[in-house]
Amino acid sequence: MTPTRPTCPVDHHSADYIANAQETHARLREECPVGWSDEHGGFWVLSRYREIKDALKRPELFSSARIQREDGTWDGGAAVPANQSSTLLYPLEIDPPESSPYRAAIAKWMSRSALEQHREPLTAYINATLDRVEPTGRMDIVTEIGMMPGYMVALLLGIDPELAPRIAWPFNAMDVLERDTPEFAEAQEQMGWLVGFLAELCRSRRENPGDDNVSALVMTEFDGEPLPLSGCLSTIMTVIGGGVATTTAALEHCLGVIDSHPEIRARLIADPSLIPQAVEEAIRIHPPVLQVARRLLEDTTVDGVQMFAGERVLGSVLSANHDSSVFPNPEAIDIDRPVKSHLTFGFGVHRCVGIEVARMELNLMIGSLLKRFPDFRVVREECRRFVGESHNNGYSVFPIELAPKMAAAAV
Ligand code: HEM
Repeated sequence: MTPTRPTCPVDHHSADYIANAQETHARLREECPVGWSDEHGGFWVLSRYREIKDALKRPELFSSARIQREDGTWDGGAAVPANQSSTLLYPLEIDPPESSPYRAAIAKWMSRSALEQHREPLTAYINATLDRVEPTGRMDIVTEIGMMPGYMVALLLGIDPELAPRIAWPFNAMDVLERDTPEFAEAQEQMGWLVGFLAELCRSRRENPGDDNVSALVMTEFDGEPLPLSGCLSTIMTVIGGGVATTTAALEHCLGVIDSHPEIRARLIADPSLIPQAVEEAIRIHPPVLQVARRLLEDTTVDGVQMFAGERVLGSVLSANHDSSVFPNPEAIDIDRPVKSHLTFGFGVHRCVGIEVARMELNLMIGSLLKRFPDFRVVREECRRFVGESHNNGYSVFPIELAPKMAAAAV
């Protein structure tokens, strides 16, 4: 007999959930830390830090592999409901040991020391963007700075940085644009172009390897065989998909926190070396990826609750980051907070491999912005959040005024 399940009717894709997620999980952490939701085919919701981290530590039980059912539909993976695309996202949607060589190869591109070479060009790119928007007095983070992660990916792949918008835009568009519009169809076409371009890049670097990151990836061997090119292409697509909208959303949250906390703004202006810890605290409070998902490979119990093989499990990153047993007074923004082990970048074998890329982009962007436009203001009345299918906790429109005090003085 199936034991009674504690229930919590969460639909993490609904507008209602997005609007009340903090309150919902504060209640669930107390009353139903492990609960079953019937939405999207049914899944467990974990709301406490400890259970979520424990699950992410055990990929042999909580798998992120996406698998095809007999009827051709897909199950599992890192999202609920399961992504139905026939192309698996490597290394995220496969388990170790298969995922390990892909992850190890790209982790080398994105170590702190490997990234140092990109600091100067990235700073120049950010300043050129700020030069371009300065005469208008404002900028939309999504359309202007949303291209910065594309630029960074171009540097990582060793390709023409002029391609930055063609790399970033199709991914941004998937979150920003309404389905069934000509713009969305255009973005899909652009995505098709990007896949073709990157497939050719992988193929040509396998034929004529050079001293670059893509060559290193396509020349990697596993069990004595070179990695399949399809897996290499998929890995590059995950790097782009994982790094574009997330970083843009993180930047929006950081700017929102600075804008609404004058004391934090004043401290960062006086001492820019505090920017990295302010970034960590802003993305603890407002994680760009709200949840991670897994699929159980065997029956197990979590916190005394019986779960069965094949069931989906969703861990709320937002809830974990607001768990007072780890982060005392969790709703307060405290940039001096001693504990920084938030789950914003996940945990375990699939922990974000682009952490240092994201940190570098965010720290440089916020540093340049505060230096040149210390009084910037978020135009909150025009900001629009993503809801619906997006897995990112970000905005489709996020304008800022660059120098509102100067503009007011000139009137
Ligand atoms: C603030 C920005 C970012 C956030 C919040 C973020 C968040 C995450 C999270 C939560 C995961 C783990 C998902 C899971 O376990 O199911 C992940 C994985 C990943 N991220 Fe990020 N990410 C960010 C930026 C980036 C950047 C800049 C890149 C690359 C340039 C990147 C590339 C990846 C890749 C390739 C994976 C899959 C790793 C694996 O499966 O081994 N991310 N990210």
